[in-house]
Amino acid sequence: MENKTILITGGAGFIGSHVVRLFVNKYPNYKIINLDNLTYAGNLANLKDIEDKPNYKFVKGDIVDGAAMYKLFEDEKFEAVIHLAAESHVDRSISNPTEFVFTNVIGTVNLLNAANRTWKDNFEGKLFYHVSTDEVYGSLGHEGLFTETSNYDPHSPYSASKASSDHFVRAYFDTYGLPSLISNCSNNYGSYQFPEKLIPLFINNIRNNQPLPVYGKGLNIRDWLWVEDHARAIDVIFHKGKLGSTYNIGGHNEWTNIDLIKIMCTILDGKLGREKGSSEKLITYVKDRAGHDLRYAIDSTKLKNELDWVPSLQFEKGLEKTIDWYLANVDWMESVTSGNYQDYYAKQYAKH
Ligand code: NAD
Ligand code: DAU
Repeated sequence: MENKTILITGGAGFIGSHVVRLFVNKYPNYKIINLDNLTYAGNLANLKDIEDKPNYKFVKGDIVDGAAMYKLFEDEKFEAVIHLAAESHVDRSISNPTEFVFTNVIGTVNLLNAANRTWKDNFEGKLFYHVSTDEVYGSLGHEGLFTETSNYDPHSPYSASKASSDHFVRAYFDTYGLPSLISNCSNNYGSYQFPEKLIPLFINNIRNNQPLPVYGKGLNIRDWLWVEDHARAIDVIFHKGKLGSTYNIGGHNEWTNIDLIKIMCTILDGKLGREKGSSEKLITYVKDRAGHDLRYAIDSTKLKNELDWVPSLQFEKGLEKTIDWYLANVDWMESVTSGNYQDYYAKQYAKH
């Protein structure tokens, strides 16, 4: 494998840390530079196992700072970018949409500008890979799947900001020829996910015997994918994806929230030695999320047919593995839920 210097943004976050780990371990010839400004969601403890590897470097920086991004590109001479840095939580986007415009839209445009200016005399061998979400397609009814040609129809400030960033990436491909690709993935689960998202939040609350705040009737449907399968898909798309293309990534694994929550309760009753049915008693139906998308489900046939990727891990096994990880890493959970998290939790759930 040839030498390459790759910028991974948002590498201290949930998915980013899995992508950084995969690339650092699998490609010793690549120099991986992880740029992250360590917001509440970024945590260097997520990368403890690889932080001393010779092909890894961490840079603290803010993608909203365009001049700093340009300087970083000049200094480091990246051949490629895998862009994951973002504000990623829908509920926070409802409380503070502007933050999402800065990071997700302006931050992405800053990186596109830096790549375009630095690479413009020779686009050969360069790649800007933008990691996006299935939420840009909006909400499905009970039938159908999102394909790469589904219309964009975002509903939350988060998904609107991600949709906007996707449009900018395509605009730079069409206008300047900037070599780029995009993938749109469904809901990820696994280790190191910040406990504002459904699965780690509910694991933590069950462990602490706290109420489980189910939005609405719990009948919204998500398509869950193990985060390490997402990282594997990003690896394949990065190396073999067609420039200018979009790839949908999903688990073919749809669950209503309430069914998923009940399985988590059953698994945790067993693991925590509690009486069967006791965790389910923590379920509390609360006011629905504003603009709550009913259903996401991805058709990833293109990725399977063109690049031979399929998910590797069956969901119930993956969920149990994930629960085991959180139970074995209570220190990690306690460190990320101290301080500001308590304020966030109190404010967020007072609204519901
Ligand atoms: P996350 O919130 O766990 O991590 C985001 C990371 O970006 C954090 O480390 C944070 O510190 C960093 N960051 C935020 N603002 C920054 C800034 N201004 N400058 C530099 N770094 C900044 O998010 P995640 O769940 O790992 O998602 C990563 C990417 O994947 C996002 O682009 C998200 O839209 C996309 N995505 C997520 C999912 C999912 O289920 N979590 C699914 C599909 C796509
Ligand atoms: O589909 C991909 C997207 O998945 C990513 O782009 C986002 O970054 C990621 O956060 C995720 O978005 P969701 O809104 O689907 O994930 P979240 O974990 O916040 O919620 C999952 C479902 O659970 C959703 O229907 C809302 C519901 N929910 C969530 C929370 C936090 C509850 O019922 N109660 C809760 O407290």
